[in-house]
Amino acid sequence: MIEDFDHFLKTTRSVRRRLDLEREVPDEIIEACIEAAVQAPVGLAGENWRFLIVKDQTIRTEIANHYADIMQDLAHERGIEIKSTHKSLMRNLHDMPCLILIFAIGEPQQTIPQQIAFYGSILPAAWSLMLSLRARDLGTTWTTLLSARQKEISALLSIPDNVTHTVMLPVAYTKNAVLKPADRLSAKDVTFYNRWGEQKTTNSHKNAKGEDND
Ligand SMILES: Cc1cc2nc3c(=O)[nH]c(=O)nc-3n(C[C@H](O)[C@H](O)[C@H](O)COP(=O)(O)O)c2cc1C
Repeated sequence: MIEDFDHFLKTTRSVRRRLDLEREVPDEIIEACIEAAVQAPVGLAGENWRFLIVKDQTIRTEIANHYADIMQDLAHERGIEIKSTHKSLMRNLHDMPCLILIFAIGEPQQTIPQQIAFYGSILPAAWSLMLSLRARDLGTTWTTLLSARQKEISALLSIPDNVTHTVMLPVAYTKNAVLKPADRLSAKDVTFYNRWGEQKTTNSHKNAKGEDND
């Protein structure tokens, strides 16, 4: 059980290529995933998340065109070659059976604590949604590029003012996708005990004063 849970956490990767674009993704499945997502932690401002499921072909095509333009502009600006996997998503986006856009009601304020609270009240739900979709063999990619065209996307989707765009998850059933943990630094490499930079020692169970933590 714990192994299964960790397996999903470790293998919820971006899936841009090995997707069945012909297979419909039922609304009930997405709604079940959103039911799980809305159990994510929420800040003082309350449940400010909103999920917009796009299946309409014309709207998907418009979104895909914006996405491709943004990606190409970005690559041009930075003088970088777009990776083939990213090109696949660009190409396939208008054929994805479903796009889920996640919004936050309100706008981030100036201070860092306010910004942390604002996005921190939405993004855990977005990640829960991605995990829940993964558990049902639905492949997704965490994308934020579209936020470069908030105004245009808001007009297209009738999004009211004072609503902030966060993440878009393109969703399709996976097809022959073998999802493995990514090559990342280990927990040991990125974890400190008691003070920044201090790696685990045999005394890490003691607090800064040298007393036992329990
Ligand atoms: C803040 C953020 C924004 C991202 N935006 C995009 C995006 O717009 N398009 C995209 O294809 N991937 C996007 N990604 C996904 C990363 O590119 C992805 O995590 C990376 O390809 C590594 O793949 P993996 O998650 O399977 O390890 C984003 C990821 C993060 C964390």
